[in-house]
Amino acid sequence: MRDERFERFEVEPFTGSLGASIRGVDLVADDDDVVREVQRALHEYHVLAVRDQSLDIERLHVVARRFGPFSGNPVHTPVDGYEDIVRFVREPDDSGKVIGEEWHMDLAWLARPPGITMLFGEEVPPVGGDTCFTSLEKAYQSLSPRMVAMLAELTGIHSGRGVFAINAAHSRLGLKNEYESVENTAVEHPVICEHPVTGRKYVFVSSVLTHFKGMTEEESRPLIDFLMARAIRPEFNCRLRWETNTLGMWNNPYVLHTAINDYSGYRRVMYRTTVEGGAPQAARLSS
Ligand code: SIN
Repeated sequence: MRDERFERFEVEPFTGSLGASIRGVDLVADDDDVVREVQRALHEYHVLAVRDQSLDIERLHVVARRFGPFSGNPVHTPVDGYEDIVRFVREPDDSGKVIGEEWHMDLAWLARPPGITMLFGEEVPPVGGDTCFTSLEKAYQSLSPRMVAMLAELTGIHSGRGVFAINAAHSRLGLKNEYESVENTAVEHPVICEHPVTGRKYVFVSSVLTHFKGMTEEESRPLIDFLMARAIRPEFNCRLRWETNTLGMWNNPYVLHTAINDYSGYRRVMYRTTVEGGAPQAARLSS
């Protein structure tokens, strides 16, 4: 099914909840109107697989910066010459978890989490290695009005505690020397938020949400577990299947994502960059 609201290129939704593939654009060469249209598609679908992009590191850098400045990344060592790009490699005989193998949001423990994450597959497995996404907008819409009203009164504390340990488990990942500051970072984000452009509401939950302001971690845990379980329900998901020359991009604060560990025996090499975002805004709810 093609989304006819987009005329400059072909947009085909992944599922009824989020995600779409785009064909017929060249993000290096096309004009700024096309980039704005892709941004409009991103606001609509939150996750895009832009097919047939012939990129290398330099071109990925150029494309990413057309969408906005780099968000910063205090955790991963970048590739030589490109402060804004990191390389995730999985060799055929690697075992254990893959990078990003739990539902999470990138850098949710920053005051301004990245607005967009981009991932480009230099080498993708012939089968497997998909990335799954879930819509925090759909999760919001599934909550009862009373639950929304209660959550709207809460402030979530998102912590960098343990982030380095998770990443250090991947021997092929280079880590920056910022362990102390990341470990001690804890930021406040509203729980019920709204998108600054579309005004659409979403629930801001992440894997690093440790507790709610004024409550203990023990008191907060059942509610956090409920919200995470609600957020990742299959009907709110989509699956991005990587092909050679696919540029994946997602509206990072409005989704959770997880890498799928099902491609043992194959190599997967991805380049990731992020675009700066704003501080999540508390939703204005009509009383
Ligand atoms: C990530 O979590 O940023 C990586 C996802 C992936 O490699 O599919």
